[in-house]
Amino acid sequence: MKSDLLITGVSQLVTAEGAEAKHGRAMSALKVVNDAAMAVVDGRIAWVGRASDWTGDAGATVDVGGAAVVPGFIDPHTHAVWAGDRLADFEARAAGATYEEILAAGGGIRSTVKATAAATREELVALAKPRIDALMRSGATTIEVKSGYGFSIAGEIAMLEAIDVLAAGSRMRGGATLLATLLIHLPPVDAADRRGYVEQVCGELIPVAARRGLASAVDVFVEREAWNVDEAEQIFACAKQRGLRIKLHSDQFHSVGGVELGVRLGALSVDHLEATGEEQIVMLAGSKTIGTIVPGVSLHLGIPAAPGRKLIDAGAAVAVGTDLNPGSSPLYSSAAALALAVRMNGLTAQEALVAGTVNAACALGLVDRGRLEAGCVADFLVLDSGDWRDLIYTMGANPVREVWVGGRKVGA
Ligand code: NIG
Ligand code: FE
Repeated sequence: MKSDLLITGVSQLVTAEGAEAKHGRAMSALKVVNDAAMAVVDGRIAWVGRASDWTGDAGATVDVGGAAVVPGFIDPHTHAVWAGDRLADFEARAAGATYEEILAAGGGIRSTVKATAAATREELVALAKPRIDALMRSGATTIEVKSGYGFSIAGEIAMLEAIDVLAAGSRMRGGATLLATLLIHLPPVDAADRRGYVEQVCGELIPVAARRGLASAVDVFVEREAWNVDEAEQIFACAKQRGLRIKLHSDQFHSVGGVELGVRLGALSVDHLEATGEEQIVMLAGSKTIGTIVPGVSLHLGIPAAPGRKLIDAGAAVAVGTDLNPGSSPLYSSAAALALAVRMNGLTAQEALVAGTVNAACALGLVDRGRLEAGCVADFLVLDSGDWRDLIYTMGANPVREVWVGGRKVGA
């Protein structure tokens, strides 16, 4: 075989195998190749194996000097575009107020909506770029970014346009792949306006987003303080009609039927799950829908951690994301999200890596990444250690030495 690039000097090459989501016990099955090499052709992985088994020709060879190599992370849940800050909320919460109380009083997400609406698209792009860069430095090579602070139809479109500009810029610089999700976040404050807003979402927002290719999925926040199951179902019907995938913010504070709805409608993922109970766990485990957990939220808000361990023991497929946002998870590291999933949600290191790679790719409907196997995009990480477990063990320092996207080192 003739390859463009051969990566050698790999102490351990660690990957899940097969494009399908890993459920339950299958989340522990990682392949570890010692003294490995990996060949890249046209930005994709062409061959992986023991270095001594390589017999091909390489255009260039890069020796990583005995480091471990893992797939680039897929961060399947972020709100990286926002304006303003939530420092006042943070102080109020430290003084005893809860996130839900602040939201019900018109603060929280609603204050971010105000600040975001007042920003231009260019300002939103400038604010979000360093956040995306931070996630990428921490190992994220594919990043989902949600709208949801636009609130008005025009505001949501402006957010999606900002994500589109960020995605194009990242692509040009050889950075992470960005994937946009249209988030229908909060309903209008006045209950009488809710129906009209759903009609606008279905009649205008979703059709425009779909026609212009500005989003690949629609997400709805199903919660006591947000949308109910019936409203979400209407919105999802419109999304499906336009060929968009669906996902949910569900069971963050209360279990009000979001998981049940997501499973019934075949959602790609139900995200959060901090308040999920035994019934929902069994239901999710019996489905193809992925349970995406976001430990940064439990840490930052002091709410219960999602039952990651129970979900996996029941047979569910679990993914992990940062949920980077100003209100519930100012977590700028995808590697840290995996490290937290072990401490807070009871995952093993192996499960955390699967949750942040192949399962997270499946939570976005992507099949060509999150693994180091022939045919996948050559998105991978060179760690700062010869033992991949340092990735999950390390807290506070960046365990990722180099980030490679499409067979090219980012920033090189
Ligand atoms: O994923 N829960 C709803 N939405 C976001 C938080 C957004 C915010 O607080 O600004 C979340 O937690
Ligand atoms: Fe979120």
